Amino acid sequence: MNNKIILITGWLWYIWSHWVVSFEKAWYKTVIVDNLCNSNISTLDWIEKILGYKPDFFKIDLRDKNKLEEIFKKYNFDWVIHFAGLKAVWESCEKPNLYFDNNVNWSINLFSLMEKYWVKNIIFSSSATVYSQDNSLPLTEKSKLWTSNPYWTTKLLIENILEDLAHFSWFNVINLRYFNPIWAHESWFIWENPEGIPNNLLPFIMKVANWELDKLSIFGDDYDTVDWTWVRDYIDVVDLIDGHLKAYEFLNNLEFDWFVYNFNLWVWNWISVLEIIKETEKVIWKKINYEIVDRRDWDLAEVYCNPNKANNILWWKAKISLDESLKNSWRFYNK
Ligand code: NAD
Ligand code: WQD
Repeated sequence: MNNKIILITGWLWYIWSHWVVSFEKAWYKTVIVDNLCNSNISTLDWIEKILGYKPDFFKIDLRDKNKLEEIFKKYNFDWVIHFAGLKAVWESCEKPNLYFDNNVNWSINLFSLMEKYWVKNIIFSSSATVYSQDNSLPLTEKSKLWTSNPYWTTKLLIENILEDLAHFSWFNVINLRYFNPIWAHESWFIWENPEGIPNNLLPFIMKVANWELDKLSIFGDDYDTVDWTWVRDYIDVVDLIDGHLKAYEFLNNLEFDWFVYNFNLWVWNWISVLEIIKETEKVIWKKINYEIVDRRDWDLAEVYCNPNKANNILWWKAKISLDESLKNSWRFYNK
């Protein structure tokens, strides 16, 4: 067992349950806190099936600083990986203060305990949503930052706070910026399968293909893009996790302190909504019913980033093709 102990906030559901598995497999000890507001304790059983044991888990809301402090007293953490947060853009527009409280205020509880217990290393799950819409594409880490809804603003605010903590409180910070993660774990035990109507595109497409939902509503076909539907760059969650591991290992080996690194974790393979529907139909041999409806307020026509910095500095590159991701995803819905 590696002697590094990592605190992971917000782990139990989609992306981060994969993360725990990858880290434990790489022999790091992980300690997990989550308030289960958007996750299910049963994921712990699936993780146990993959690893053969349950990682240490505490049901704690970040707002409960006393309980959180107990964890800091109990373990001698080396790193914090901070994923906990709310992430629905539409909900953040309806309840902005909920998002500012949950994502920013309660993160500050975490940061102040990190300072008190001298845990200065953090990877933050940021987002390409921090980039302004008036940048030219592809986005790079140097593109202009600006946001247009409360959820996205919480990401930028936390990045700003962490930057100051690096300069004035000796934190070491990595912000990882990504956007459209898809798929599931190779074990087939943990995957993206939201309850009810999904917010994101791929689970929606899969549920239509599986006759759980009638048809997909495409939010607009009047964008200035290749076929008038929006364009995205989808990344397999397993590649994304590998990017986090590489970032962690890179910074562990750095010999200087008080730094901030930002990395785009992107594939560099963009595709429109109509194209991804066609691709899915081809890969899974199923027809996807859809209709065109109105645009959503916050949608960006095209988002894709240049991942060169992560490729060159972290020696990380996304490896899993879209077809493979679609195939694997379909196996879950279809099983
Ligand atoms: P998720 O909702 O599946 O996971 C977030 C977890 O945080 C949940 O398990 C939830 O219960 C927990 N949580 C929320 N508020 C909490 C609080 N106050 N205290 C303790 N736990 C709390 O989301 P995800 O897709 O796994 O995303 C995780 C992180 O990655 C988020 O910070 C999100 O903003 C960021 N991110 C996600 C995407 C994406 O498209 N999925 C893209 C870029 C960045
Ligand atoms: C992709 C495209 C929709 C569903 C979201 C968040 C963003 C980020 C990642 C992290 C969009 C269209 C979708 C549907 C559709 N998270 N769509 N019908 O919107 O690119 O990004 O997740 O920080 O904050 O906004 O991802 O998967 O929701 O949508 O037409 O039923 O699919 O309009 O252009 P999005 P998505």
